[in-house]
Amino acid sequence: MNATIADVDAWEVLDSRGDPTVRVAVEAESEDGRQRGVFTVPAGASTGAHEAAERRDGGDRYGGRGVRGAVEAARAELAPAVRGMDVTDQEAVDAALERCDGTADLSRLGANAVLGVSGAVAHAAAVARGVSLVEYFAGLAGRAPGRLPLPMVNLLSGGLHATGGVEIQDFLAVPVGAETYPEALETVHAVRCALRERIVDGGDRPLVADEGGFAPPLESVDGAFTLLETAVRDAGHEPSLDDVAFAVDVAATHFYATDVGEYRLESLDRTLDREGMLDLVAGWAERHPLVSVEDPLAEDDWEGFAALRSRLTGTDVQVLGDDLLATSVGRVEQAVEENAASAVLLKPNQAGTLTRTLEVVGTARDAGLATVASARSGETCDTTIVDLAVGVGAGQIKIGSLARSERLCKYNRLLGIGRETEAGYAGGRWPPADEY
Ligand code: PGA
Ligand code: ZN
Repeated sequence: MNATIADVDAWEVLDSRGDPTVRVAVEAESEDGRQRGVFTVPAGASTGAHEAAERRDGGDRYGGRGVRGAVEAARAELAPAVRGMDVTDQEAVDAALERCDGTADLSRLGANAVLGVSGAVAHAAAVARGVSLVEYFAGLAGRAPGRLPLPMVNLLSGGLHATGGVEIQDFLAVPVGAETYPEALETVHAVRCALRERIVDGGDRPLVADEGGFAPPLESVDGAFTLLETAVRDAGHEPSLDDVAFAVDVAATHFYATDVGEYRLESLDRTLDREGMLDLVAGWAERHPLVSVEDPLAEDDWEGFAALRSRLTGTDVQVLGDDLLATSVGRVEQAVEENAASAVLLKPNQAGTLTRTLEVVGTARDAGLATVASARSGETCDTTIVDLAVGVGAGQIKIGSLARSERLCKYNRLLGIGRETEAGYAGGRWPPADEY
């Protein structure tokens, strides 16, 4: 059955920060009638320099964050470029979208316009094929759907996600000991409740940041780990590499002063150079059950990342590239060459199209790098990232805390996929099963 793209509509909606973002609806037409797919684009706050370029209107409206230009580009330029194409030929559709934009970083029309159409096409294609989105993504990746990924759950937030917190962006719980995905959720829920109680008992308010993590004042990074370790024990678990371990997203680019080459940890009253950062991170790994460190150095410090990889040789600590790799095949290839990372964060809006995202998965797999599907700090109740994660067999997923509906809808979608399919679970151990 041939289903062709008949209509593309796009409009502005508001995301979890109340900022505008692009929602796209694609309608395909076949002998069976019409098939509709809708996708909403997420947005980062700690965006890297090497991401595909999100387009914002500027001006006064919504503080300059309007996306009317991107919406108009989707309707007036991208729609005619893909109308009449086979909706199930994602590669050809994405190539047409890229050609229509004409720039490598998709800055002419906006990566948010391009990804919006790319994502909505996949949704419509799954309907046209009569398969679930997770099966559809698995098909695009040339495989059967994978297992439910091990969640890395945000507990404490800082950086650009929590004004007034520490510079380190996220401290996450990794429930490595839980045997099933539902058990992993129960474990983290118990830890989060215990953490909330400790924060309240300490005289602070349990307010949450952009991804639902708590953001109490913290005096040191070790202090944050100690607070987490206490909460894990309160919850009846052990902070360890076999039960509840930790991950950190340092997001170091965002407190790096490029002109002087220094990392400014103002809340901790410290300024560090590369060596200082390496000592800091290696020290955490020695003192705490740490399994993953994301963006421990600024986004172009390949040498620093490689040095950290050697420092961590013989440990199971994963070095995860977000701003470093920007979901870009070229940057993942460079990381492989320079041994700069052991895992790749997958953010479709850094790439700009689903095809590019799938290419990154392929490149990572060929090189033996782990894949971690990731939401952004600005989200909606769109759960596409979850279907993508299971479809391509990413071993880990990072979608925020167990708070705020734009986060919970994703955790709940994983429960739904678990019900609908016989998907096993990638967790229950560290490192989790990444599907090669
Ligand atoms: P962002 O944060 O969506 O604000 O970029 C998420 C992350 O850094 O992993
Ligand atoms: Zn990050």
